[in-house]
Amino acid sequence: MDSHRCTSACAYVEFARLHSEARFNLAGSGVAAYPLRGLPVSIDDLEINGPSLYGFPPLIERLALLKRVDPECVVHTNGTAMANHLAMSALFDPGDDVLVEEPAYQPLVATARFLGAHVLRFPRRAEAGYALDGVEIERQITPRTRLIVLTNLHNPSSMPAGREALEKVGEIARSHGAHVLVDEVYLEAIFAQPEPSAFHLGEEFVATSSLTKAYGLGGLRCGWILARPELAQKLWRLNDLFGVMPVHAGELLSVAALDHLPAIARRAKEMVEANRNTLRAMAGDFEHLELTVPEYGTTVFPRLHSGDAENFCRLLREEYETSVVPGRYFDRPEHFRIGLGGDPEMTREALARLALALRQWQNRTS
Ligand SMILES: Cc1ncc(COP(=O)(O)O)c(C=O)c1O
Repeated sequence: MDSHRCTSACAYVEFARLHSEARFNLAGSGVAAYPLRGLPVSIDDLEINGPSLYGFPPLIERLALLKRVDPECVVHTNGTAMANHLAMSALFDPGDDVLVEEPAYQPLVATARFLGAHVLRFPRRAEAGYALDGVEIERQITPRTRLIVLTNLHNPSSMPAGREALEKVGEIARSHGAHVLVDEVYLEAIFAQPEPSAFHLGEEFVATSSLTKAYGLGGLRCGWILARPELAQKLWRLNDLFGVMPVHAGELLSVAALDHLPAIARRAKEMVEANRNTLRAMAGDFEHLELTVPEYGTTVFPRLHSGDAENFCRLLREEYETSVVPGRYFDRPEHFRIGLGGDPEMTREALARLALALRQWQNRTS
């Protein structure tokens, strides 16, 4: 077996699955799970087998409507994770250069490496508020770069990419014959107004997303890729090698969820806003942190002023039963990530415990 391909599996996902559980959980990056009983479906609405050939038409139509694209541009996938894998599989060949933002959601880097890319990184700098900066991309891009990969909203900081910056990245990509893959799984969490997908900005853009993060519907695995029709056709055929067929009952539940989406989004928005307000109100309790509370999104990415953040995360978990994601999973060991999508009461208690842990940390390190 080629061991190189196996070692590129993802430490972050393993952490999220096996080591992030805690009584007070700030490690999650999405909105708390939406219950099945909240969907207006009965067993009679479900079926095991159905007409899912290259997409289940009622689902594709709804996704196309949601993202305001032609149905021919929608490829339904098993979550954003498979959307990214599938899109990357089609957008570069082994040995090509792929330019990925830094800090990044680790699976984006791991997937590109797994598929044989030579991965280069461009920084989204903390001191610039993690802004997407075309100049940084121009510095790193090479004649062999076939793909630029970024998230919008940015995971871990929740910083929006902004239309102008995206257009600039599109220009750079075009002049190098490259595509831009924008993982928009957190874009859905701008509940205030429907933010258009980067797909609309030009031919070089391919966008991925799902119902996972903003709506608490991760278990539906309802993901998608937005791509020009020719590429979409290629992606559907490539998917024959991966998933072949989705779970039809999942497609039917996804249709029901999309028909019910305004109510699901309302619940999510209320939870995230309550948590953001709690965090803002407590900002004074977090003296030991460099903390910017973003306007949107479900995560924040503070930096610990002193000491080792990994040890701080351990203290928080062991003595305060509260979990966050250590920054080392984002190549920023002095940071950690806090999730703002949990139950508001749990989040309030978790943040209070974080404040207590910080005070103890301050005494220990000063
Ligand atoms: C940027 C990003 N993309 C994709 C995913 C995976 O999403 P999904 O559950 O839709 O596969 C995550 C999950 O944390 C993520 O943060």
